[in-house]
Amino acid sequence: MTQDQLKQAVAREAIKYVVDGEYVGVGTGSTANFFIDELAKIKDRIKGAVASSEATAARLRSHGIDVVELNQVAILPVYIDGADEITPQGAMIKGGGAALTREKIVASVADKFICIADGSKLVNVLGKFPLPVEVIPMAQAVVARKLAKLGGEPNLRFKDGKPLITDNGCVIIDLVNLKIADPVELERQINQITGVVTVGLFAARGADVCLLGNPDGVKTLTF
Ligand code: A5P
Repeated sequence: MTQDQLKQAVAREAIKYVVDGEYVGVGTGSTANFFIDELAKIKDRIKGAVASSEATAARLRSHGIDVVELNQVAILPVYIDGADEITPQGAMIKGGGAALTREKIVASVADKFICIADGSKLVNVLGKFPLPVEVIPMAQAVVARKLAKLGGEPNLRFKDGKPLITDNGCVIIDLVNLKIADPVELERQINQITGVVTVGLFAARGADVCLLGNPDGVKTLTF
């Protein structure tokens, strides 16, 4: 099975968690894109969707799915999104697609976070994947210096030869060569740095369920 087929399998499985007659929170990235394609097939069963990025909103709309602002939504039973790494305890690194801030906001409103990922994303220790940190541009240098003190090497993320600018007008610093022994504590420490908007560690509030795609089927981890 290809990686795309594994992503498609978990996207299909995730449809079971969508609550009829309610809104659904939708993540960003290639796995979330497969989920959007599946969601389109049952779009008449939901009220609409809350998107975690402009790219996701555009894909949802292209399928005729109504996209509403988070501010208009009081009840969000589920948020469904991919991850760059996930531990057997449900802590995740996210933000490879630069949408970490809106992902964290939408996830914080949802009753349940359903992580969908191919099996290669499961790791015992987070940190092989560079840890994204979204930062206010004027604070980039000072935040980078403070992040370096936590270990790892801070790298400003570039796209097409220029610093990548997020949907929120911020930059991303990726922390490489980190071994994250205590994800909750590191999330807390990075959140304390002035100028940091969001760290892509989803540990204090991790996933509630992870659907992992493996060649022998979809495995469900519940946390
Ligand atoms: C987007 O900012 C990320 O958090 C994605 O959820 C994560 O990078 C997983 O993306 P893929 O599904 O493309 O691997």
